[in-house]
Amino acid sequence: MYVCSCFGVTEKQVKEHAEAGACTPRQIASASKAGTDCGSCVRRIQALLGRGNCPRRELLDQGMPALTAEVTDLSEAA
Ligand code: FES
Repeated sequence: MYVCSCFGVTEKQVKEHAEAGACTPRQIASASKAGTDCGSCVRRIQALLGRGNCPRRELLDQGMPALTAEVTDLSEAA
C-alpha cells in the first residue's frame, strides 16, 4: 500500500527506512523523498513512525512542535 503517492513510496519502504534509523518525517524524506511534494502523506508517515517502527521514537514524543516546524521546512524546500 502506498503511503506517498507522489513518489510511489510504500508503507513497507517507510518501515524499512525507520528500521535503518530514519526516525522523523524529515529523515524519511531524505531517504526516500516521501513527503517532499504535496506533503499530504507526512501525517501518515508520522503515524507509521509512531507505531513502534523507529527504535528512537521517544524523541518524536518529545518533539511534536519541532516536527511541525519540519513539515513547514519541507513545504518551503519543495
Ligand atoms: S503524497 Fe507524499 S508528497 Fe504527495
